[in-house]
Amino acid sequence: MKVLAVMGTRPEAIKMAPVVRELKARGGFTVRVCLTAQHRELLDRVIELFRIPVDHDLNVMRPGQSLDHITSRVLVELGHVLQLESPDVVLVHGDTTTTFAAALACYYRSTPVGHVEAGLRTYDKQRPFPEEMNRRLSDVLCDYHYAPTPLAAQHLRGEHIPEAQILVTGNTVIDALLDVAQRPYEFEDPLLKSAGDGRRLILVTAHRRESFGERFEQMCRAMRDLVQRNPGVELVYPVHPNPNVRCVVDALLAGHERISIIEPLEYLPFVHLLKKAYLVLTDSGGVQEEAPALGKPVLVMREVTERPEAITAGTAMLVGNTYEGIVSGVQCLLDDAERYRGMANAVNPYGDGLASKRIADHLASLGV
Ligand code: UD1
Ligand code: UDP
Repeated sequence: MKVLAVMGTRPEAIKMAPVVRELKARGGFTVRVCLTAQHRELLDRVIELFRIPVDHDLNVMRPGQSLDHITSRVLVELGHVLQLESPDVVLVHGDTTTTFAAALACYYRSTPVGHVEAGLRTYDKQRPFPEEMNRRLSDVLCDYHYAPTPLAAQHLRGEHIPEAQILVTGNTVIDALLDVAQRPYEFEDPLLKSAGDGRRLILVTAHRRESFGERFEQMCRAMRDLVQRNPGVELVYPVHPNPNVRCVVDALLAGHERISIIEPLEYLPFVHLLKKAYLVLTDSGGVQEEAPALGKPVLVMREVTERPEAITAGTAMLVGNTYEGIVSGVQCLLDDAERYRGMANAVNPYGDGLASKRIADHLASLGV
């Protein structure tokens, strides 16, 4: 069976890497990898870390790119790759514009597609924008749906996806996390080496499009004021290269002695910093899945999440993306030790590290 794995951004590569590795390790599969490179530097670092062999690189990223640019480039150029490779199955991941455009390109060529991390929903098409529509549109186009949790599978059934096309696998992010978290790592950067020593470390990531503008400014002001009023706290924020994020972070968060604004971290140091964190403040999808597995309370700077499992498990909490919500949510956790202990349980509703194996088993069972 010839499988073409398509990936465009950092999280897609992190979560697809274990699947590519598993397929390559087995007999019976010819694996091809196509990068759309919707992200460039962020993607390349993951490709290097996991040593993913690349067969095609569409190199679509442009600074400050628009959604229509990504969609049209991926649609047209992946079409050429499909023509050249004639894969039996294509694998796409998640909810980016790469995911949707790749699924559409496959549909136009009647190539079967498997969707890794299928079925996540908020049922609010503006939140997250445009990811909610990317994943819904992808799911109607795809032929095999690898749902990370029973709830995701339930969403798919509710949308009349045939039961035979749905498989609950766990999330492949746990496969990647378990691999990387047990690799030894020593920080070279003295700032990261000493992060969390004698202080409570808040690790931040934030990049969602629907928060851009005034809400993102509120988020940054909240972070600054929280650090200002809590002398025993330090904040480390590896900043996403999106210019809409960078300019606000630089303007509102730079220059405080206990706030470190740093370049995006490679996955290995990021996971090891996550292990040192006291709590995590994020709007990232992947980080909402990883932090609970490491016993780190997660405060989610969004109004809704498509990952409610960690909230139900008691390790994550939605604080919204307003100044008041973030300040009161974080302060409450800093002040209330019992509440903190209640949230700092290592629970992992997202998988057992065998998701990639289940996906490979399923593909093998198709018997192409
Ligand atoms: C994209 C995904 C989002 C995902 C996120 C993961 C869409 C619409 N959005 O958002 O779902 O959560 O990736 O990080 O698919 N840039 C660089 N170098 C890089 C990466 C990005 O310079 O390696 C800059 C470029 O100016 C680029 C901009 O960031 O134009 C935005 O990248 P884009 O992929 O469009 O959006 P993200 O916000 O990264
Ligand atoms: N991540 C990373 N370095 C960083 C920030 C995040 O390697 O500086 C990892 C993180 O562990 C997670 C993934 O990137 O696996 C999440 O990517 P992102 O937040 O960009 O996208 P999302 O998950 O929101 O789609």
